[in-house]
Parts: sequence; C-alpha cells; structure tokens
Amino acid sequence: MPYYSDELIEEIRSANDIVDVISGYVRLKKKGNTHFGLCPFHNEKTPSFSVAQDKQMYYCFGCGAGGNVFTFLMQYENDTFHEALETLAQRAGISLPRQETSARERQEADKRTKIMEINKAAAKYFYAQLRMEQGKIGMNYFVKRGLSPETLKKFGLGYSNKYSDDLYQYLRKQGYEDAVLKDSGVVTIDEQRGGRDKFWNRVMFPIMDANNRVVGFGGRVMGEGEPKYMNSPETMVFDKSRTLYGLNLARSTRKHYILLCEGYMDVIALHQAGFDNAVASLGTSFTSGHASLLKRYTKEVYCTFDSDGAGIKAALRAIPILKEAGITAKIVKMAPYKDPDEFIKAEGASAYEERIAHAQNSFMFEIEVLERQYDLKDPESKTKFHNAIAGRILEFEEELERENYIEAVAGKYQIGFENLRSLVQHQGTRVGIAKERRPLKSGVQEKKKKEDGMKQSQKLMLTWLIEDSSLFEKISDWLGPEDFTDELYRQAAKILFAQYEKGKLNPAGIISMFTDEEQQREIAGLFNARLKEVTTPAEKEKALRETLIRLKENSISYRSRHLEPADLEGLQKLVADKKNMQKLKSV
Ligand code: UTP
Ligand code: MN
Repeated sequence: MPYYSDELIEEIRSANDIVDVISGYVRLKKKGNTHFGLCPFHNEKTPSFSVAQDKQMYYCFGCGAGGNVFTFLMQYENDTFHEALETLAQRAGISLPRQETSARERQEADKRTKIMEINKAAAKYFYAQLRMEQGKIGMNYFVKRGLSPETLKKFGLGYSNKYSDDLYQYLRKQGYEDAVLKDSGVVTIDEQRGGRDKFWNRVMFPIMDANNRVVGFGGRVMGEGEPKYMNSPETMVFDKSRTLYGLNLARSTRKHYILLCEGYMDVIALHQAGFDNAVASLGTSFTSGHASLLKRYTKEVYCTFDSDGAGIKAALRAIPILKEAGITAKIVKMAPYKDPDEFIKAEGASAYEERIAHAQNSFMFEIEVLERQYDLKDPESKTKFHNAIAGRILEFEEELERENYIEAVAGKYQIGFENLRSLVQHQGTRVGIAKERRPLKSGVQEKKKKEDGMKQSQKLMLTWLIEDSSLFEKISDWLGPEDFTDELYRQAAKILFAQYEKGKLNPAGIISMFTDEEQQREIAGLFNARLKEVTTPAEKEKALRETLIRLKENSISYRSRHLEPADLEGLQKLVADKKNMQKLKSV
C-alpha cells in the first residue's frame, strides 16, 4: 500500500462527518447525541447500530461491529484501507499526492491495466455479438436454458463468433499490440499463423473479480462437445485459486452465509431465482485462497455441490479447507437432481430454500459418506465403523463439542450414547488425548476467562475516559497507559492519554492509526464498552473505583512476573505502586 502521512489521513477523516457518510447507507434516527439505525452488518429488527457524532464513531451493540468512517467503508464496501481513503478523499475534494514508483513497477502496473482493458473490450465484444444476427444461435441456447434478459445482462453473458480471429482483429484495430495481447489470455499468437481467438462458437461467461473487473472468461459449447467449457488461462490479472464466480454480486448480499456451488450455470440459476449469495470456484477445486477470500465476507458457507461422486468428493475436500479458515461449512443436498440449476428448474426457489433450511452439519455429512465404506449388517464391519466414528470425534478439541457429536451420531446410527462415549474415551486414552487434554484444557479455559474479564475492565476504563474527560483528573494519580496489560489496549491508551495532555480527545483518530482491520475493529470496541447495571452516579463512582483497583492490581502482578532482574527503575516503580495501592484501597 502506498504511504500517506498520519496528518493527511486525519485530515481526510475529519473532513468526512461520520453521520453524513453513514446516512448514505443506513437510515439513522437521532436520539440525544447518538444516531441509531438497523445494523447493516447483521440482520436485526430493532436498531442496535449507533453512530456518535461527538466521537465520530459507530458501534453495533448487537454484533460488535464498530469503527470510524474508514472502517465503515472497509466493512460495508469490503474496501481496503487504501480504497476507503481514496473514496473519502474524493468525497471531501482532497487530492492525494502521487506515489513514487520504480520504472519496473510502473511497467507491470501498465501491463495489468492493459490486460484488464483488453478483457473488458472482449467482454463488450462478446456481449454485442450475442445480440446480433450471428449470435442468434447463442441467444437461443441461453433462452432454452431459461435465462431471462435481466440475467443475461446482470452476468454480461455473450457469444464468440464462428470465425477464428475476429476478436483478434478487433482488438488490433483498437490499438493493442501482439506483445500484450498474447498475455491477455483471450487470443493466442502463433508464429506461423499469427493471432487467433481462444474462443469461438461458444456462449461466453465473463469472469469478474470482486470489484466487477473482467479478469477472464469461460466459454461453453452449445450442446454436446468437448471440452464442454473452455476457460481463460491464468494471467497477470487472473488467479483461479483466488477468484470466485459471482462474488462481485454475492459480496453485497444481506444474507449471513454464502452458497458455494460448482458451476457457472448453477450460480446464474441461483441468482435468477433470488439467491443473491451464490458463488462458484472455476473448474478448479476449492483452495485455501478461495476460503480466505470468502472469509472477508462471511463466517458460514453452504456447499451446494453436484449430487454425483465428484460433487461429494469436492465437498469432502472443501470442508476441512473452510474449517481451517474459520468458516463453518454446511451441506445442501441436491439429490435426486444433478445440481442446483436442475433442482431449481424442477422444484423452484421455495423448495430450494427448504433444502437450505435443512442443510446438513458438515461432520454429520462426513460420517454419512464414511458409512458407505461399511456393511452395517456385518458385526465386524459395523464395529469398525463405530471405531472410525470414535476416531473422528476425537478430532474435536472441546469436550462439550465431543459430547454433542457423540449424542448426534449415537442418535442417528442407533448406537447407545454411553457405548459410543466410552469408545471415544477408550480410544482417547489410548492415543493419550482425552486424559491429558482435559485437565490441561480446563486450566487454559480458567486462565482465558480471567484474561477476558481483565480485558473487559480495561475496555470499560477507556470508554469512561473518552466519555467524560474529567475522569482523567480523578485517576491520573493512580493509573497510566502502562497499566493496560494488553498490548493493543496499551498502545491505544498511550495515544489517548497523550491526546488528553494536548487538550483534545479524538478517539476516531486513534482508530486510523492502526492499519490492520481486525485491530481497528477491536479498538472501536474498546471505546464502546458498556456496563449494563450502572445507572446512578453513586453506582458509577463505585464501579470506577473497583475497576481502577482491579486494573492496578492486575498491572502490578503482571509487572512483577515480567520484570527484568536488571530493571531497577521498573522495580522502584513497582514498589511505589504497591504502596500507592494500599492508599488507593483505603480512600
Ligand atoms: P459441470 O459439468 O457440472 O457443468 O461443471 P455445469 O456448470 O453444470 O454446466 P451445464 O449446466 O452443463 O452447462 C462444473 C464446472 O466445472 C467447470 C466449469 O466451471 C463448470 O461450470 N468445467 C466443467 C470446466 O472448466 N470445463 C469443463 O469441460 C467442464
Ligand atoms: Mn449444470
């Protein structure tokens, strides 16, 4: 990312009032100092999304989304920080300085731009051909497959002519040289025969990246023929393992999950039927690159793959990849139909909706597939199946999760719950998991709970400080930024205390000092902690005092544990703090 100074970033931020910007996306209603609306980041019926004009921040009490005007665009538009910065600079009429780049970088960037242009020109060309006399055959094909004019338009579908070089000639006339054309993926340059089109006599599916730029094509024969689909090769702008067909549309769905399918036509049929959250990987198997792309938009993926063996295999492959990325996977069954496209044609959208509602847990799906390897009428084979299940259940780290799966599997396959549980425990002891893990786990959990509680106290303190800056006076004898033991919180506290020294608090400005989106989100949450029970001033006073003592005690114990033996100054401060602590407790 190019570098911009903190001053410029701050200038752009303060030139864009957060209430104005968010009002362009969300209907807000003013209540006191705060504006409320329905949260755009999760589904809700009563508004818990708040925008504070004084803080220049938003926060959702329902889902925890929060940040400043930059993070809003990053979350809502899925922009990078840089993209959000550009948008808001433009909105405020501030021009960004041009960045210095090396000659080689410039050349690369030029070439990428050219290839994007060529793809776009080709897409327009195919699109126009489909609507001409020579494209009738393509149009008839799409109509026969039930696509509406709106759908054709939405997906930019097209047709490549029967000639083997008409697109090449067209692009040459537009001024593109062979050198760049040969790297664009839409033509091949042959030394003897010259330029030839990659696609001819096929219906064309432009492939867009998440930002609506054409990066490649799929072309289908109309009817039988091999290969059924031909795809652009990978180019400087087309990385198949990081591109998902339909994501440019699905990214702005309001649904909380993404439908992952196998084919172009599946995505198109689903969108046409109103499922605006469908995407597909492109004739390649699903990769971790796809998973991390999806992770930017969702936490839950429903796999709606073909019902044949290949589809089942694809699902078995995708599940662990999704899990690894922190995405929950579910399986939507298409049987007795081949794929979503055929399902929708035969049964309609509401039947498909029904299937989604009954989507299967991915682990239960894996066990179901596993079952096919065994003959449950044969006691020996059946025992092996049960042992295999136990082995799989052991892969869950949490005991509660194991118990829940034991219950689910036992119920479905009519195994006694206790029997299956002791089988799991027995195998666990043998491989040394269950026994060793349990005491270890609970210790870890205990510690985690304590840490979470401490983080919450640190958050509360920071929120109170920005909401009422007179508190700085009250606490500054006792508490400083170094008492915030969480690294991120300490950084935020340092900046906040410095702002107070300078006489002006600016929490929204603190957020953009952190470039990582996760960190920004956390910082925003930091300034929006709530303690429900506190209402009266006396209660508030009490809560403040208790929180202060907790933070200080935690800080002292943290520093005692982490003190370097040679750090005399640190030791002196620690001793002084301990003394001070006695005083604090007695006031
Ligand atoms: P399918 O054969 O399931 O095709 O391949 P489909 O999407 O159902 O298409 P229709 O309904 O027959 O028109 C699934 C996906 O695999 C890739 C394509 O991305 C296709 O959408 N594929 C398939 C290829 O890349 N090349 C092929 O020859 C076949
Ligand atoms: Mn199909």
